[in-house]
Amino acid sequence: MAIVICNEVGGIGIGHAARVLRAGGDALDAVERGIWPVESDPRIHSVGRGGWPNLLGQVELDACIMEGAHLRSGAVGAVRGYLHPITLARRVMERTPHVLLVGEGAERLAAECGLERAENLTREGAAFWEHWRASAIPGDEARAWPPDALAPLAWRAADPVHTHGTTVFLARDGRGHMAAGVSTSGWALKYPGRLGDSPIVGAGCYVDDRYGAAACIGQGELTIRAGTARSVVLYLKLGLSLSDACREAVRDLEHLAADRLSFVMIHALDASGEHHALCWGDHESPRYWVCSGEQGPASLVNAGHVR
Ligand code: GLY
Repeated sequence: MAIVICNEVGGIGIGHAARVLRAGGDALDAVERGIWPVESDPRIHSVGRGGWPNLLGQVELDACIMEGAHLRSGAVGAVRGYLHPITLARRVMERTPHVLLVGEGAERLAAECGLERAENLTREGAAFWEHWRASAIPGDEARAWPPDALAPLAWRAADPVHTHGTTVFLARDGRGHMAAGVSTSGWALKYPGRLGDSPIVGAGCYVDDRYGAAACIGQGELTIRAGTARSVVLYLKLGLSLSDACREAVRDLEHLAADRLSFVMIHALDASGEHHALCWGDHESPRYWVCSGEQGPASLVNAGHVR
């Protein structure tokens, strides 16, 4: 059974992903195609163009793509000036011997591959950053911008609302191959160079055709520490049901010393095409999109919730 699922902000892309599957296309193409519109939409402030800027007012993007047949993956982190980090992640996988490129090296590959450039800091993003700087930094510090020590600002700037975001897509195509993709601008006002879980294979996403796929949104610092996406797939391998595998991965998160920012939502698809999502932490009515690769429109489904 061909199927694609994505988180709520991915809704604008799921139809594109489903069309790839309905035309007999690959899960990997479906995932990439589904993420493109999310990255392009400046109204989505946690992904791609229009994403939240970091402490220096720069938009740095992270993405990862992975296929489940042979567990090949590519990822990029802290990329500036390109529209589709998910495609750049795929180029890392297909055109280099590496898995993860960051910053200038990733941008160099994007230029080599002729990927589309973009000014990802929109007027709205710049206004958000200016407002934060004006309200958070006392006058003397603002005059000496940027201050020598940014780390204290990273603590002060972090707030629960703007740590959410990211788009995740999981797909299974008609041949039974699976793929996962994640793209994000990460936390608003993050320390420059900060990578979340999205570009970290096994944290932000993981897929193995034999068992299933998982991908996370929320506070990446937690899912990196717990290896959450990989854990879900491993729990499937050990014989747990899809919902039990997600619940066990949340138990692992509960074990971490966490803080007021704790929020993670796991999206999961098993090798038979069953889907599930489980939210941990504060969130009003967590939901995700599901679309069959055979027919019918996408539907928005309630996720499980553990507080
Ligand atoms: N989960 C996205 C991030 O932490 O950047």
